[in-house]
Amino acid sequence: PAPGWALDADVVVVGSGVAGLTAALRCEAAGLSTVVVTKARLDDGSTRWAQGGIAAALGEGDTPGQHLDDTLVAGVGLCDEQAVRLLVTEGPGAVRRLIGTGARFDTDDQGGIQLTREGGHHRRRIAHAGGDATGAEISRALVEAVRARGLRTVENALVLDLLTDAEGRTAGVTLHVMGEGQHDGVGAVHAPAVVLATGGMGQVFAATTNPSVSTGDGVALALRAGAEVSDLEFVQFHPTVLFLGPDAEGQQPLVSEAVRGEGAHLVDADGVRFMRGQHELAELAPRDIVAKGIMRRMREHGADHMYLDARHFGADMWEHRFPTILAACRAHGIDPVTEPIPVAPAAHYASGGVRTDARGRTTVPGLYACGEVACTGVHGANRLASNSLLEGLVYAERIAADIAARRADGTLLARVPHTPPHPATAEHPLLPPEARLAVQRIMSEGAGVLRSADSLARAADRLDRLHTDAQDALQEHGKTAEPGVDTWEATNLLTVARVLVAAAALREETRGCHWREDRPDRDDVNWRRHIVVRVAPDRA
Ligand code: SIN
Repeated sequence: PAPGWALDADVVVVGSGVAGLTAALRCEAAGLSTVVVTKARLDDGSTRWAQGGIAAALGEGDTPGQHLDDTLVAGVGLCDEQAVRLLVTEGPGAVRRLIGTGARFDTDDQGGIQLTREGGHHRRRIAHAGGDATGAEISRALVEAVRARGLRTVENALVLDLLTDAEGRTAGVTLHVMGEGQHDGVGAVHAPAVVLATGGMGQVFAATTNPSVSTGDGVALALRAGAEVSDLEFVQFHPTVLFLGPDAEGQQPLVSEAVRGEGAHLVDADGVRFMRGQHELAELAPRDIVAKGIMRRMREHGADHMYLDARHFGADMWEHRFPTILAACRAHGIDPVTEPIPVAPAAHYASGGVRTDARGRTTVPGLYACGEVACTGVHGANRLASNSLLEGLVYAERIAADIAARRADGTLLARVPHTPPHPATAEHPLLPPEARLAVQRIMSEGAGVLRSADSLARAADRLDRLHTDAQDALQEHGKTAEPGVDTWEATNLLTVARVLVAAAALREETRGCHWREDRPDRDDVNWRRHIVVRVAPDRA
């Protein structure tokens, strides 16, 4: 369909978490006309749910070099060292600039930023806000700044496809806009620079810490646009997610690593601290190691969860340091002050995504990616705790600087032609809404925390069948499910799920958060490399 309405801009930022809003604010400050489009409201999305905090070498005696070392160890040989170096050296300044934008972090008696520990960090280097509500505070500050500066924003707008000009350069995006008023239906923002900051894809699994909007829209768009995507097999499962029963589906409450950082113990039903002896950092080992430790113990005990014991914190500490988690536990009938918290791993973070260079450029000219949707190379096979908000900040600033430099040197077009929508928008076989749950169950069963060649092959078959059904419907009836948010989300989930499963099947080893039961060892000879995928646009 032809766009019913259109905007023009220098830059369109898709997504409104820490990455998107930071990029938008910096672009606007550089004099670029900027539009932010976001699928729900400005403050929906994953940033708001971040608990533990933001990692940066801000403490006395800490250095970017030590932060670099911890990040590289967690990434198990697949981090891009230069990308990490940029992250950790520019990180402290980026956090200070975020404070300048209005974010208020928790401070100590002397007014210094309070720092905690999380898995994989050898030092206290995690800044937090509101105790365990760091993301909510960052989101509040950035949304207020965006509103105060009067940036153009379009809410309730699901991004569909990239627009390109005759030379294959970015020319904007098409959107499906919901809700009331003049923006109903399909619209477009025409711009020579598009920043994808659409967040993650946790909803590809049945149980996840991610909100319902995290449906891999940016990666799916990038695949349809022919951009390279990398490392999709590295999905991080957070070790300690509140266990609400074996059939719990959708977004699950997180119990931050910071709870372990402040001294909570992981125990089995007999009260044994099973992470002791498995790693020098015990409960504070990198996330993949703790998740595997929990899964192993669950198997040995035939249990579907373990426990996090922080009764020794006492009521006062729980109320002041972890109010969000305390409230979430109590809302589900668990009182962490008097009983251990039942926990199990759940899908949490996509370490891979749309492949970028150090300036956030993807392989499609004019298309940038930032935050969880991107694969800058900083996370490797397993992201270090609390590096994600930092990556969003640092790389958003780098992207804004690159776009401004390209505008200054004339390589960024001042105006782009109003190109018609990419054919994918009109003809893509859309899945019916109920396919979302089918994809999630297939993925959790076959490509979850434990994977094997067999489980992945089964998952691939079942996903292929969903795709073929949608294609058959298109061919037979000339149309598929009605275009809408639920049908596009289901379709995007299937698109990213198929690539994720293919990459996980290809990587015949266990590394970081990719755990192959049939290939339990790391294979540095064959697999110290990345799986990069690019799909012919008409096949995505
Ligand atoms: C947490 O608070 O445990 C989450 C931190 C992260 O995902 O980096």
